[in-house]
Amino acid sequence: MDYLLPILGTLICILVFGQFCWWTAVTFQAHRNCVNHLDQRQSQLRKKIDHQFRKTETAQEKPWDGFRKFIVKKIIAEDEKSSSVYLVPEDRKPLPTFYAGQHLTFRFQIPGKTKPVVRCYSLSDGPNENYYRITVKRCPPPSHQPDAPRGLVSHYINEQLAAGEIIDVKAPGGSFFLDPAKQNPIVLLAGGVGITPMMSIILALLNANSKRQILLVYGLSNSTQHTFKNKLSELAAQFQNLKALTFYSNPIATDQQGTDYDLPGYATANILEPILSNPSLEFYICGPPPFMSEIYNGLIEHGVSDEKIHFEAFGPASIKRTRQQTAVTGADDQSTQHYEIEFCKSNKKITWSNEFENLLELAEANEIELESGCRAGNCGTCELDLLEGDVQHPDHAKANTDKCLTCVARPKSNLKLEA
Ligand SMILES: Cc1cc2nc3c(=O)[nH]c(=O)nc-3n(C[C@H](O)[C@H](O)[C@H](O)COP(=O)(O)OP(=O)(O)OC[C@H]3O[C@@H](n4cnc5c(N)ncnc54)[C@H](O)[C@@H]3O)c2cc1C
Ligand code: FES
Repeated sequence: MDYLLPILGTLICILVFGQFCWWTAVTFQAHRNCVNHLDQRQSQLRKKIDHQFRKTETAQEKPWDGFRKFIVKKIIAEDEKSSSVYLVPEDRKPLPTFYAGQHLTFRFQIPGKTKPVVRCYSLSDGPNENYYRITVKRCPPPSHQPDAPRGLVSHYINEQLAAGEIIDVKAPGGSFFLDPAKQNPIVLLAGGVGITPMMSIILALLNANSKRQILLVYGLSNSTQHTFKNKLSELAAQFQNLKALTFYSNPIATDQQGTDYDLPGYATANILEPILSNPSLEFYICGPPPFMSEIYNGLIEHGVSDEKIHFEAFGPASIKRTRQQTAVTGADDQSTQHYEIEFCKSNKKITWSNEFENLLELAEANEIELESGCRAGNCGTCELDLLEGDVQHPDHAKANTDKCLTCVARPKSNLKLEA
């Protein structure tokens, strides 16, 4: 029996030592796991922070996606028909800059209207860190339809919109802008409210002390609609590189030639004849359709190369570029093949006809309701999925190959559209 006691003692010691070792190993492992877990958490956190920083940096560099809320800071009447609206972002985050000449796209909730309304307005001030500015002219009924409803959004902005209200705004966009890297002389041709992007271009250059030669040819009816009259006179007096030539087509009794305006009548390209031989000149046109066509065709007739002429249409395009004419003619020839346009959701098949300018017009004439905003290929509101077939878009309207901007697109084959 005596020999059993030491054996039992040894066994107990081994057991206790084993348990101690097991406990130490488990604790050590748990500690390691804990450290690893903490490391993992720390590295995840670090990644998250890095990602967040990167996201913030990118957001500051890039304009935003979709609509962003802006507060109407103030509204200033510019003349009897137009007002300027100053906008600041509701989130107080930095304002991305823009190229002078570009526009903003807005979504308005107009009282009494069930659906929001989308419109584009050009930025009318130079780029700055504090605000965006647009200038909106009341749009009257067409002269041949005086009883038609007056322009919805332009009257809402001029008569109802108030400081403090919040509106949805897409980031600055558009392909009509001045290349700030160039130094060549420019001619800005503005008809009526087409002065807005020109004002932005002028202010962008002069605020940056650019020595680029700027000639502004501004055609309008009379002093009641002379938007930016005082500002332009001030700038022309202050900066030698800005020259302005103003035409009044319908001066009122108190309008003085030489004081309020330079020449009576309509602005045409003929006035530019003495300078047109300068090959480095570039031309920027914006105004009502007749003004734009007159100036564009006049410049082409005087031998100005099409590439030197840039223009912005505030509504359905009125100019057919000479360099696009072959392509457009090609489409017209093809369209005599009676393309069949299928609007799948509406379950309607319609034969395309040249009497329509675009697919939106075709749809509306056949009582297919499509969304639309600018009707000039700028805002994207009328975009539809192109399920089958091929369409032709003008140069400035950017659409993916499987999409179709119906307000400017014409068919190049039979089509299936998701509408
Ligand atoms: C890129 C771009 C930039 C622009 N920049 C500016 C700018 O800086 N400043 C500016 O003032 N505008 C600008 N515009 C024009 C602007 O977007 C609007 O088109 C303009 O304000 C008219 O919109 P509205 O809602 O007032 O008129 P809408 O209600 O769209 O009416 C347009 C016209 O149709 C007529 N009309 C309405 N209903 C009928 C009907 N049932 N039958 C017959 N006729 C009818 C109206 O009387 C009006 O003449 C720009 C447009 C684009 C595309
Ligand atoms: S309505 Fe704006 S792009 Fe067609």
